Amino acid sequence: MAVWDKKILILWGFMFLLAGAVGQSVNYPRSVCAMKGSTVTLPCTFKTLASVTENGKEVLIKINRVVWCPNHEICQGGTPSVYDSKSDKNNPRYRYLGDKKGNCTLQITDLQTDDNATFRFRVETNHGKATFTGPPGVKVIVENTRMKIKTESNREFKRGERLTLKCNAMCTFHQLEVTWFRDGNTLPETGPTLQLGPLAAKDSGNYTCGLKNNNRTLSQPYSLHVEGEEEAGDVNLPLIAGVVVGVLLALFALVLVLCIIKRKRAAAAAADQLQPSVESEQKRPDIIYSDIQHPAEQEPQEDISYAAVQFKQKNKARPAEEAEDGVIYSSVANRG
Ligand SMILES: *[C@@H]1O[C@H](CO)[C@@H](O)[C@H](O)[C@H]1NC(C)=O
Ligand SMILES: *[C@@H]1O[C@H](CO)[C@@H](O)[C@H](O)[C@H]1NC(C)=O
Ligand SMILES: *[C@@H]1O[C@H](CO)[C@@H](O)[C@H](O)[C@H]1NC(C)=O
Repeated sequence: MAVWDKKILILWGFMFLLAGAVGQSVNYPRSVCAMKGSTVTLPCTFKTLASVTENGKEVLIKINRVVWCPNHEICQGGTPSVYDSKSDKNNPRYRYLGDKKGNCTLQITDLQTDDNATFRFRVETNHGKATFTGPPGVKVIVENTRMKIKTESNREFKRGERLTLKCNAMCTFHQLEVTWFRDGNTLPETGPTLQLGPLAAKDSGNYTCGLKNNNRTLSQPYSLHVEGEEEAGDVNLPLIAGVVVGVLLALFALVLVLCIIKRKRAAAAAADQLQPSVESEQKRPDIIYSDIQHPAEQEPQEDISYAAVQFKQKNKARPAEEAEDGVIYSSVANRG
């Protein structure tokens, strides 16, 4: 037999040892990248032979044990494992979500630097031919960097606008593990995106995000400034309009009141004209009346009637200046 043939035979033998007979396999992704401290799920399915034939007899395959090992090609016997279906001392950080039929999914919580390794799944059955470890394994890449806040733009935002902040990582992480902070205070949102808006001045602040219970992943702050009320012109416009309308209404009311007063006084003056002059004088305030009456008693009759006529004409023309006119009249009467 040629050396070459021997080599191929040895290779075949080795392959058989690793993967077992054709018809059995493990399917998992080549590599998974995840943030330190996060939860990562390694999706995995496997197939075993239903039966093997030995010495002409068919032997049904029964799965006895399933194991996940880090950094080991075969993972047989007492090789250190992270999950062993026959052990009751498995580290709870590694949860086997699969079964003993075809699902071999493994979930790792609180990912550590040690988990930066290649994990392989092994099936042990009642027959050696159906017992195998699935090559090449899942390479778990543990990232130990900070999260980053991403947004559509870094511009200033106005009141009423909407904004989405994304908490990004170098690697994948479980959806519900993000914690958001504004000025160091925890926000109720826990998803990888934070929806803000309609924005108000109170939304201003420094936002950070990180994986839950993992300060090392805390992002650099994203500073959000929402224009306040005193700065936003569009908000103050209605206020200004309201003030203007109010002032105009007050002015209108004032003018209306003045007009009514003017009309009433004009009507009163017209009524005065229809009555005898002495009666008219008696309606005036007492001071003016007495001023008129007393001099009138002392002075000749002609002067009084003249003065009374003068006054009434003025009163008719400018009723608003009535009192003033009265003073002028009285001084005239006194002098006369
Ligand atoms: C394997 O199990 C996991 C966890 O129960 C599940 O999410 C996944 O869909 C299963 N995979 C298949 C191929 O059924
Ligand atoms: C993880 O392993 C890769 C090589 O597989 C290495 O480049 C990287 O630095 C390791 N990361 C950590 C956090 O140890
Ligand atoms: C946000 O951070 C900046 C510096 O990055 C600082 O000047 C500012 O005062 C901070 N704002 C608040 C509300 O803490």
